[in-house]
Amino acid sequence: MSDFISDFWSNYVIAATVLSILGCAILLWLTGRKRVVADADNTTGHVWDGDLREANNPLPLWWVGLFVITIVFAVGYLVFFPGLGGTQGRLGWSAAGAYQAEVQKANAELAPVYARFAQAPVEQVAGDPAAHAIGERLFMNNCAQCHGSDARGSKGFPNLTDKDWLHGGTPEKIIETITLGRVGTMPPMAAAVGSADDVKNVANYVLSLSGSPHDSVRAGLGKPRFAVCAACHGADGSGNQALGAPRLNDNIWLHGYGEAAIVAMINNGKQNVMPAQQDRLTEAQIRVLAAYVWGLSNVPATTASAKP
Ligand code: HEC
Ligand code: HEC
Repeated sequence: MSDFISDFWSNYVIAATVLSILGCAILLWLTGRKRVVADADNTTGHVWDGDLREANNPLPLWWVGLFVITIVFAVGYLVFFPGLGGTQGRLGWSAAGAYQAEVQKANAELAPVYARFAQAPVEQVAGDPAAHAIGERLFMNNCAQCHGSDARGSKGFPNLTDKDWLHGGTPEKIIETITLGRVGTMPPMAAAVGSADDVKNVANYVLSLSGSPHDSVRAGLGKPRFAVCAACHGADGSGNQALGAPRLNDNIWLHGYGEAAIVAMINNGKQNVMPAQQDRLTEAQIRVLAAYVWGLSNVPATTASAKP
């Protein structure tokens, strides 16, 4: 398997490897071919600077043998394992394959641990302390880099601990989000809105929806222009989870607060991607994760862990 678009680098590596091995073999052969006939005192007869003599100490045979063995080993290795550019070894071994096998083995070993969470409703799994611990660890390893270790997110990455959902906060929706990922797309809207002044007016109208500080004259002028936004954000700005269009009439801002941030949003639009996890996590892991996430903003229908 190769990630390159042509065979060039593969062939380059093959050539470099084969030439190196051949080079070593030829060097070994050349140096071994020339036998020096030593004098009685075991020197080659060369003398420099009056008394500096060259002793005849060829490599011991076992040492030469080691060189031969390394060459034979290299050739054998390259036959059985991938090493010659992009070629597969005869054993079919690959690092990616070995990793996959390990993951599968670990998943199989863990299956019984997850089995008890597979049947119960997500709301109930969320109340299970063991599931919570597993969910938290999965979250730290797979989600925290974007959503923060406290799951409160940051600019562009939604807070998962509040009740404000872009795509829906039911267990089913959360599972869907994690499994398939999401793409939130807001197109650049400046052209549809009008002049730069119109954009500013609409931005002030958006601010007025949440009772944020705004210029009320501008907001009044912007109100009719908000019609082009209503298709996604709703006439009253209450958002649309089917489109991932956020609620604009609350004080939760994914992409920054204030006139400048909203003007930038209208002018540039935004594409925001939550990566799909179905190839990285098992269905059971996603279920436990969804329970963990759901539990962050809901009181779980708890069982075992609840105080009496
Ligand atoms: C590469 C960054 C990244 C990673 C990793 C990531 N997310 Fe997200 N996630 C996002 C972004 C960005 C969004 C918002 C998508 C949008 O704007 O529509 C999002 C949205 C979500 C939502 C929907 C929130 C809502 O309001 O509807 C959930 C739930 C979620 N992520 C859970 C998770 C979980 C659980 C993991 C770990 C398996 C995870 N995410 C990993 C970036 C990430
Ligand atoms: C095609 C649907 C669509 C239209 C039309 C649209 N939006 Fe959006 N808007 C979105 C989506 C989807 C997002 C969320 C992007 C993301 O996932 O990060 C968004 C995000 C935003 C945000 C950021 C909210 C936050 O919490 O930070 C603002 C502000 C906004 N839109 C204002 C507008 C205004 C004003 C208009 C009209 C000029 C408009 N939108 C038109 C879909 C739309």
